[in-house]
Amino acid sequence: MKGDPKIIDTLNDLLTRELTVVSQYMVHSEMCDNWGFDKLHETIQKRAVTEMKHAESLIGRIIFLEGIPIVSELEKLHIGADVTKMFANDHEAELDAVKRYNEGIQVCGDAKDFATREILEHILNDEDNHVNSIEEAQDQITQMGIQVFLSTQVK
Ligand SMILES: [Fe+2]
Ligand SMILES: [Fe+2]
Repeated sequence: MKGDPKIIDTLNDLLTRELTVVSQYMVHSEMCDNWGFDKLHETIQKRAVTEMKHAESLIGRIIFLEGIPIVSELEKLHIGADVTKMFANDHEAELDAVKRYNEGIQVCGDAKDFATREILEHILNDEDNHVNSIEEAQDQITQMGIQVFLSTQVK
C-alpha cells in the first residue's frame, strides 16, 4: 500500500531515534556489566531489546507503506561516564522519544492514517514506561544515595 511520504519520513525519523538509543543502551548495559552491576546490566539490556523491537515495527510499517527504511544513520550518542550520568542521559533520550512519538501520532492523525497511528501509540506507551522506570531509579538514588543504590544492583 502506497503510504503518504510525510508519514514515511516521520517513521524514518523515529527509526533513526530508536537505532540510536539501541546503541546507547548497549554501551551503557555493557559498562554496567563491566562494573559488576549485574541487575542494572540486565535492566538496560532489556530496555535495548524493547527499543530494537520498536525499530523492527517501524521498519515493517515503512516497508508495508512502500517506503525505504533508513537503517544506516545514527544521531549523536550520549554516553554517561558513571551510573548517575547514564540515568540522566537515558532520561533525556526517553523524554525526547515521548515528544517525538506524540508529534508522530499527530502527523498520522492529520494524514488520517489511523493504523500507523495505532502502532506509534503502542510504542509511546512503552516509552512512557521507560521514563517512569528511570525516574523511579533516580528517586531511589536521591533517597538512598548512589552507593546504597549500587549495592542493590550487584548479584
Ligand atoms: Fe523505543
Ligand atoms: Fe524507550
